[in-house]
Amino acid sequence: MPNEKRVAYVTGGSRGIGRAIVHALAGANCHVVAAARNAQTLEVVVAEEKSAGHSVEAQTVDIANAPALAASIEGVVAQHGRLDILVNNAGITRDGLFLRMEDKDFDDVIATNLKSAFVAARAAARSMIRARWGRIINIGSVSGIIGNAGQVNYSASKAGLIGLTKSMARELSGKQVTVNCVAPGFITTDMTEVLPPMIREKVLELIPLKRFGEPSDIAAMVAFLAGDAAAYVTGQVIAVDGGMSM
Ligand code: NAI
Repeated sequence: MPNEKRVAYVTGGSRGIGRAIVHALAGANCHVVAAARNAQTLEVVVAEEKSAGHSVEAQTVDIANAPALAASIEGVVAQHGRLDILVNNAGITRDGLFLRMEDKDFDDVIATNLKSAFVAARAAARSMIRARWGRIINIGSVSGIIGNAGQVNYSASKAGLIGLTKSMARELSGKQVTVNCVAPGFITTDMTEVLPPMIREKVLELIPLKRFGEPSDIAAMVAFLAGDAAAYVTGQVIAVDGGMSM
C-alpha cells in the first residue's frame, strides 16, 4: 500500500536550510525523508520531528556518490510506493581565488552541488510522472546569478542548477511535474558561520532588507513551491535574498 501522505526527499536534511525544509514539509503533512551523511545528527532530527508529531525518517547517504544516491531514492520509492517532492538542497563550498584553485576543489563542488541534482531527479522523476504530480526544487544561490569572487566552482555549480532546472521543467511539464530553483542570499547557517566578521559586515551592506536570512525564510518558499498552490509555477528561479540580487 502506498503511503497516504505525500512523500518528500530532502538532501542535506540534517542541519541549516535543509533542516528547516524538513520541518516545514513535515508540518505541511508530508512524510519527509531527511538524507545526509551523518547518521547521528539525522537521528536527532528524526526524534525532534517525531516529538512535534511529524512523520520523518532518515537516509544516510553521500550525495556525491551517484549510485548510492540513486539507490537511496529508489529504495524510498519502493518502500512508500511514491515520491512526490524532491528537494536538492545539500551543497558545499570550497572557496578560493580561481588562479590558485585545485582541480579537486572544482570537481568536488560540481559533483556535490550539481551532478547530484541530476542523479536524484532522474531517480525520482519516474514515480512523479506515473502520478501525474510532482515537485522538484533545487536550492541554488545568488552566487549562481550574480557571481562571487572566490567562488568560481560554487557559482558555476549553482548557475548550472539554473540551466538544469529550466531544461528539466520543459521536459516534465506535460506530466504536471514542476521544477523550480530557490536562490538564497546570505542565510545564517554553519556554511556562513565560518566567514570572518569583516566579510559578514560587507555582505550586510549589500542586503536591502538589512538582515541576514534565516533557514525558515528559505523553507517557507520551498513549502509553497512544494504545495498545490504553486501548481502553475515551473522553470523559475526565485531569489530569497532580502533583495540582494535585484
Ligand atoms: P550547511 O553546510 O549548514 O548544510 C549542508 C547540508 O548538506 C548538511 O546537512 C550536510 O550534511 C549536507 N551535505 C553536504 N555535503 C553532502 C554530501 N556529500 N552528501 C550528503 N549530504 C551532504 O549548508 P546550508 O547553509 O544549510 O546550505 C544548504 C544549501 O543552501 C546549499 O546547497 C547551499 O549551497 C545553499 N545556500 C546557502 C546559503 C547560505 O547563506 N547559507 C546561500 C545560498 C545558497
